[in-house]
Amino acid sequence: MAPEKQMTTATAPGKIILVGEHAVVYGRPAIAAPVWQCVATAAIAPAPPASGVTISAVDIDRRFALAEAGDDEPLAVVARLAMKHLGVQNLPDLHIELHSDIPIAGGLGSGAALSTALVRALFAHFGQVVEPEVVSAIVYESERFYHGAPSGIDNTVVAFGQPIWFIKGKAAEPFWPAAPLTLVIADSGVPSPTKETVGAVRRLWERETARCEAIFDEIAGLAQRARLAIEQGDQRTLGQLFDANQALLEALTVSSETLERLIDAARRAGALGAKLSGGGRGGNIIALVEPARIDAVSAALRTSGARRVIVTRIEPRSFGAHSHRPATRGSG
Ligand code: MEV
Repeated sequence: MAPEKQMTTATAPGKIILVGEHAVVYGRPAIAAPVWQCVATAAIAPAPPASGVTISAVDIDRRFALAEAGDDEPLAVVARLAMKHLGVQNLPDLHIELHSDIPIAGGLGSGAALSTALVRALFAHFGQVVEPEVVSAIVYESERFYHGAPSGIDNTVVAFGQPIWFIKGKAAEPFWPAAPLTLVIADSGVPSPTKETVGAVRRLWERETARCEAIFDEIAGLAQRARLAIEQGDQRTLGQLFDANQALLEALTVSSETLERLIDAARRAGALGAKLSGGGRGGNIIALVEPARIDAVSAALRTSGARRVIVTRIEPRSFGAHSHRPATRGSG
């Protein structure tokens, strides 16, 4: 009888930074949340004997044999690290297929999500439960490739799959809002690799250290107040903090005319506050809205040139169904 063909799949969400991007690279706190409306998926299936491990990341047009991939291939780096953690000595014969509908270089953590889905699927395939901290640490190695000197916030929020309070080098603190937060995310359609904007802020910091440090301190203060506002369900204050954070990101030179056009459109259509999210200079903006304003804000963003609009809700704990979404194993 032919052996049963087992297929293992796992998913990982996109992410947004609510408050504190860039300052987080310099040790200040930041708040991030998963976006389950766009996800990366990894599917692992047994392959013919002697074919080794092949990985095909369809949306980014990458296909390679793991045995032949160099250390400049981030997905190969995480696959090898995951296998090392799993104690797999001899490479099995497997085909791994990765898909994602998260915009690439759009500030939504597409690279971290692909790597996270891959790591989770590998652990599930070999029948091992894996803690989010372990997934995050493995994925951090691929983030270094995409981002240069990342704070680690993207891999952490994607691995935890719930809102986090994050300080570089410390354990992430998952936390929940007191009331649901509705966010409209607009993709500017302008690709902007995080590595470049992090590098631009680094150069600015080298030239104007005292001014940048003062801005980072102000952002840290906003992050503290934002956590309180989220935990108290005070959305008006949170909206104002988004606006204040945007002004400081503009001072750090990571905003752009396109992003500001979208932010302005969201505010005019009734958003409580809006800001760029992630590296900036392209990518996406987020707008905090009351549910009654979702349609008006989404329409205004589309009219102002958004390539894609995603509505997401960050739920209080009792709704926290997505946290640590398990990988699944079934017959293929
Ligand atoms: C990117 O999502 C967030 C940045 O702060 C970079 C990082 O923290 O590594 C811009």
